[in-house]
Amino acid sequence: SRTLSLAVIPGDGIGPEVIAEAEKVLERALSASGVTLDTQRFSLGAGRYLETGDVLTDDDLEAIASKDAILLGAVGGAPGDPRLKDANIERGLLLKLRFSLDHYVNLRPTRVYPGVPSPLRDAGDVDFVVVREGTEGPYVGNGGSIRPGTEHEIANEVSVNTAYGVERVVRFAFEKAQARRQRVTLVHKTNVLVFAGSLWKRTVDAVAEEFPEVDVDYLHVDAATIFMVTDPARFDVIVTDNLFGDILTDLAGAISGGIGLAASGNINPTGRFPSMFEPVHGSAPDIAGQQKADPTAAILSVALMLDHFGLAAQATAVTDAVEADIAERTASPRTTTEIGDAIVARLTDEALALESR
Ligand code: NAD
Ligand code: IPM
Ligand code: MN
Repeated sequence: SRTLSLAVIPGDGIGPEVIAEAEKVLERALSASGVTLDTQRFSLGAGRYLETGDVLTDDDLEAIASKDAILLGAVGGAPGDPRLKDANIERGLLLKLRFSLDHYVNLRPTRVYPGVPSPLRDAGDVDFVVVREGTEGPYVGNGGSIRPGTEHEIANEVSVNTAYGVERVVRFAFEKAQARRQRVTLVHKTNVLVFAGSLWKRTVDAVAEEFPEVDVDYLHVDAATIFMVTDPARFDVIVTDNLFGDILTDLAGAISGGIGLAASGNINPTGRFPSMFEPVHGSAPDIAGQQKADPTAAILSVALMLDHFGLAAQATAVTDAVEADIAERTASPRTTTEIGDAIVARLTDEALALESR
């Protein structure tokens, strides 16, 4: 039998609510698999900061880095909370984890499940994955402010794109596409961001030579948002930089029927560091503590984690259970726990045994 060590970071707001359901599903999915979980919980986020002043200590980072994987809910307080002004939880915790653990692939799949109330009247057969670069771009914090607070202030935020960093994520996107519908769409803004755009374009063209069966397409990011709404079924694998990928995947979540459905994996494909699975959404302070959050995104993130560990049967069982649950959703709202319980209930002995045959 195999033991997987897991760091669980429930975080703030709705984070603990959705993670409770995700953990139930994970335990149930593994119940007959011979895999044992060894879970360590980390209290991190705005809550911990307000209590102790810590954002992410070296000890915490070291302990987390020694695990096989990380499951994270969401971190961060209400945008603009003055008590968190100096903390910058997003940079100091979430991005620090992604950067330190070299999560260069931020994998964000989107499907419009049958029966889901998508805001698109006729979405078509939507099944694409955004491969968002996770360690570079405008996220690196390469900037500064000159004469801050004066009317002569100059605030610079420089996007960093390395040949090494772009190549490895582009290669991952092509490998992904090869195993799917053989189509890669590069999304950038090469008409304006000419230096980074040129590097991304040249890299895609070069890697494409090694994947002759993969079709390559290019869209400027503004046009990509049009097609994501008017014709999302055209996409298979989208590869893009850290910031464009952030924006596109919230949009993708919205068209799929809500941000509460959007899952993600921050992957280090080399296996050198633990990958981290988390819903795309944040801590949603507006609905926190009310059992109003949809835990589906967190649960689907568990499915991505199972897949990452090669537990394909268990991953499929979870996605099937989610799909069946979504198909029967009605207008009457359920609590976070009710949705989690309904999905667990669909993971019957039979469903789990069927998938692992
Ligand atoms: P958000 O995703 O938390 O919320 C946006 C809207 O979506 C809100 O109306 C919220 O109620 C709704 N929503 C989000 N998740 C939902 C769910 N599971 N079910 C139903 N509705 C849901 O984004 P925000 O308001 O911009 O950010 C709130 C805080 O979260 C900020 O501090 C932000 O920095 C942080 N954040 C953290 C992460 C993360 O930890 N990965 C991601 C995004 C934002
Ligand atoms: C996300 C979030 C984060 C990001 C923030 C909270 C740093 O929006 O996971 O999409 O921009 O990557
Ligand atoms: Mn985001």
